Amino acid sequence: MKIDWNTNLYCLIGKPIDGTYSPIIHNYIYKKQDINSSYMAFNVDEDKFEDAIEGFLAIGLKGFNLTAPYKEKIIPYLDEITEDAKNIGAINTVKNENGKLIGTNTDGDGFIKMFYDNQIDLKDKKLLLIGAGGAARGICFALMNEKLSELTIINRTKDKADKLKEELDSLRKPIKISSLHLDDDFNREDFDILINTTTVGMEPDSNSSPISLEGFNEKLMVCDVVYKPLKTKLLEDAEKRGYDYYNGIPMLVNQAILVQEFWLGRKLDSQASMDMITYMDKYLKEE
Ligand code: ATR
Repeated sequence: MKIDWNTNLYCLIGKPIDGTYSPIIHNYIYKKQDINSSYMAFNVDEDKFEDAIEGFLAIGLKGFNLTAPYKEKIIPYLDEITEDAKNIGAINTVKNENGKLIGTNTDGDGFIKMFYDNQIDLKDKKLLLIGAGGAARGICFALMNEKLSELTIINRTKDKADKLKEELDSLRKPIKISSLHLDDDFNREDFDILINTTTVGMEPDSNSSPISLEGFNEKLMVCDVVYKPLKTKLLEDAEKRGYDYYNGIPMLVNQAILVQEFWLGRKLDSQASMDMITYMDKYLKEE
């Protein structure tokens, strides 16, 4: 890696940041795209958060990512927030434009990009989404910009699904939104796409699945945001039934591609995301 006087530094801050793949992904993009930048992850104590932001401004850092517990805490420091990030109420990316801090959230759009990259049309589709936490919020608000016909949110804590439904309804999109408890009975036949946004099935809980695939129609497509393991129990079940399925790698990679595009102010070539998905898949298999 070439680092010189003109190298731009970008970073992730959070606590803890242990195990994050962000430096691997972003530095790979810099290398492949021949961009003179470098990316680091910093574990920042909560009482040092403000100092960190002031430090970034002082040294003219061009941008940074945020993970827990800072995705909401950053909001008062921002000069501008993109519309979707405002709705989601959480920021994962900040760009520093000559001292002006602009916040956005690329998680949901990163997930949606997977459909576009694989020529999967969401028009008139009926989606079932499990979960109502941070990942679900990002994905649901991004889905509101698409032309699906129905979105049903099911969650272990029904109140959270109800609240998310209300917020989505307030956007007044022509999409029928429903909320259910995870144990409620409902007609499964109707759904085209199932999305798991919960942590159920993630290592070390890899023998669990958030839902049984009994009763869905044979064209169901299954997406899991979990990427550790690469094939969750839910995806194994989907494979056994012959369904198309996607793991969490495309979302992980695509949200980072969108971060770079936000920072660079230009699109990366479409091959960048495919190369990165192949690379991360191999990286995680070998890890
Ligand atoms: P993230 O930012 O990854 O979305 P989160 O905001 O903590 O994390 O949300 C976790 C999601 O997984 C929630 O929908 C949570 O359900 P609750 O709202 O009921 O807490 C869901 N979840 C976590 N563990 C679960 C379990 N064992 N069974 C069912 N749902 C679970």
